[in-house]
Amino acid sequence: MKSNNGTPPIRVAVIGCTGMAGRNLVIALDKHPWFKITSLHGSRNVNKPYKDLIKISQGLLSKAVLNCKVSTVDDLENNIDSIDVIFSAIPSETAALIEGRLAEFKPVISTAAAFRYDSDVPILLPVVNGDHYKAIFTQQRLRNWKGFVCAGPNCTTVGLAVALAPIFRKFGLATVHLVSMQAISGAGYPGVPSFDILGNIIPYIENEENKVKIEIKKILATIKVENSKSTWNFPEFVIDCKCNRVPVITGHTISVFFQTIIPTSVKEIKNTIRDFKGYTNGLNLPHNPEPVIHVFNSDTPDRPQPCLEFHSPKTGMTTFIGGLEPTSFENGFKMTILSNNLELGAGSGAVLNAEYLVEKGLIGGSE
Ligand SMILES: NC(=O)c1ccc[n+]([C@@H]2O[C@H](COP(=O)([O-])OP(=O)(O)OC[C@H]3O[C@@H](n4cnc5c(N)ncnc54)[C@H](OP(=O)(O)O)[C@@H]3O)[C@@H](O)[C@H]2O)c1
Repeated sequence: MKSNNGTPPIRVAVIGCTGMAGRNLVIALDKHPWFKITSLHGSRNVNKPYKDLIKISQGLLSKAVLNCKVSTVDDLENNIDSIDVIFSAIPSETAALIEGRLAEFKPVISTAAAFRYDSDVPILLPVVNGDHYKAIFTQQRLRNWKGFVCAGPNCTTVGLAVALAPIFRKFGLATVHLVSMQAISGAGYPGVPSFDILGNIIPYIENEENKVKIEIKKILATIKVENSKSTWNFPEFVIDCKCNRVPVITGHTISVFFQTIIPTSVKEIKNTIRDFKGYTNGLNLPHNPEPVIHVFNSDTPDRPQPCLEFHSPKTGMTTFIGGLEPTSFENGFKMTILSNNLELGAGSGAVLNAEYLVEKGLIGGSE
């Protein structure tokens, strides 16, 4: 991790610290060169040290965090001045209330869906749509907030968006069809009962398909912000999907079939993807993915695989693409995409969003 030249640490609170996304946030923030975890919050699991509330990941955490007493969101609201930024990883229904209240005063970096579809809230994936942060200026003006909500994408859409962005921008997209195979950690902790998922596939995830179809267009949209007013231009490709829960612990795999508008070849698409650097290139952000995308060659047709690609925390920010081939449809291609739902798709992705907003001057510590 890179240092931030000795400036005071940015004080953070994490809400939802005992959940799947929240644990990943805590790991990514503990020992972070810019941020310092100041408080941890929950609803049912409170008034105990963090180490008494989580069973896994303890070996990855500092003593200070393990001994930090988890408290309620009320407690955070009563001490809001001692915090510079809030990370929120709570269910959407509660996020709708809690995040809005907190954003009146402080930046809220959210993994939840509650605000994603509001036109003044970016679904920030800085590598792909780094300029969307400008929607925050509209948000602050319209809502009269000192802080703001910055949402991250749904954990299935995130890998799809990274993989499609370079293709969409160079060749255009006419259609996109996908089938997801989503890990159980995407359903939170303790998640799907073992008897329902072991040796099984559940061909339904509530509201997931809608989220993917709406979010991919907002993430790939262009935004113009003038006089604190945001105007979005959404892509017009046709998209549909089918989402499945599979007995994989971490990592969402997607089979995608797409048709480009400009005719192209597998070789040209691979070169375009390999050249893609994105908005965060050269910014020296600690959680910037390196590489942004890893493309497997045709001599490894059995990759990517969740069990093989996520062998170190660093690879959790990379999007993996394999099996890129033409199809029998006009200008048609297919590929397999794998991304880490907890790293890029939740905690570490949210931390990258915050790092990017520090870089843009929207988050800062107190001197
Ligand atoms: N899991 C993923 O892969 C993933 C990826 C991207 C986005 N997300 C999003 O991230 C959010 C969290 O998902 P998750 O999978 O981590 O769920 P989870 O494992 O069920 O965790 C939920 C967390 O929220 C806390 N919480 C619930 N209600 C609360 C309230 N009223 N006040 C304060 N804390 C509250 C819980 O704390 P208590 O136990 O103390 O109640 C728990 O720590 C969701 O919005 C989800 O859609 C998840």
